[in-house]
Amino acid sequence: MTVLLKAAPIVEKHTKILKQKTTSLSLKNVVPCLKIVLVGNDPASKIYTRNKKRLSEKINASCEIIVLNEDISESDFVNKLRKLVENVKVHGILVQLPLPKHLKNVDIHKIIPPEKDVDGFHSQNLGRLMEGHFEDSFVPCTPKGIMTLLDFYGYNVMGEHVVIIGRSLIVGKPLAALMTHHHATVTLCHSRTQNLEYLTKEADIIVTAIGRPKFLTRKHLSLTKIPIIIDVGINSLPNKKLCGDVDFEDIIDWGMATAITPVPGGVGPLTILSLAENLLIAAERSIYEMES
Ligand code: GUN
Repeated sequence: MTVLLKAAPIVEKHTKILKQKTTSLSLKNVVPCLKIVLVGNDPASKIYTRNKKRLSEKINASCEIIVLNEDISESDFVNKLRKLVENVKVHGILVQLPLPKHLKNVDIHKIIPPEKDVDGFHSQNLGRLMEGHFEDSFVPCTPKGIMTLLDFYGYNVMGEHVVIIGRSLIVGKPLAALMTHHHATVTLCHSRTQNLEYLTKEADIIVTAIGRPKFLTRKHLSLTKIPIIIDVGINSLPNKKLCGDVDFEDIIDWGMATAITPVPGGVGPLTILSLAENLLIAAERSIYEMES
């Protein structure tokens, strides 16, 4: 039987802990404050940002989604970010990706400093991740959420062969670094990888993060290794239903996976949970900065 790795019990458990933390922060007159910048009308981004706001409010943090016009000029966009950076009451700033084409070359992290980069994408935060030093940095939310998920369900990656499909800066690359830090043996695959099936058949854990609906099927699995499958993809089908990068029904029917994350209800909510965790870390650190 393939175990379903659902996010709900993890989110429930951690939400309680985060609520307690916001209560202790409020005793020090600090309300964790997140600003989410959303440019344009991308339907998926609207849903993600709404879910981020919902969890922030559930833990009694403040969260505002700042919606900017799709055709905002580069200078207006940059000025908007600068204003948020200058506000000492703002602990975390997140620019929802993807951005419209004309803003793609704006180096957001030359504007948002590492201490407010709750996404963990600033080169200083990514550098810290490569070094394995986390005390003054932020770990990107999806990789962090995946580690939380594996930990909750009692899976240790030490010595395991993890095959990651997708080399994005949001998921694949930081996850490879984080897994390596936790002593996994990592193979990072992408669109140019040759003989992908040979690699996935050798995996103890497969992570798909490529944005291709139902890409991973039984043909990627062997009859000897029975892997854990983590599906990061959230794709909408023509019938408006969501599906992952994994052909969930095919894998379940095949019965040769130890465990699998559902879509929706798997990795997605853990990314949001990690964001809330990073926000509270940012707010806690701001107190030390004020005192020092
Ligand atoms: N778009 C998809 N995932 C993410 C994420 O984790 N952070 C941001 N900022 N945008 C995203």
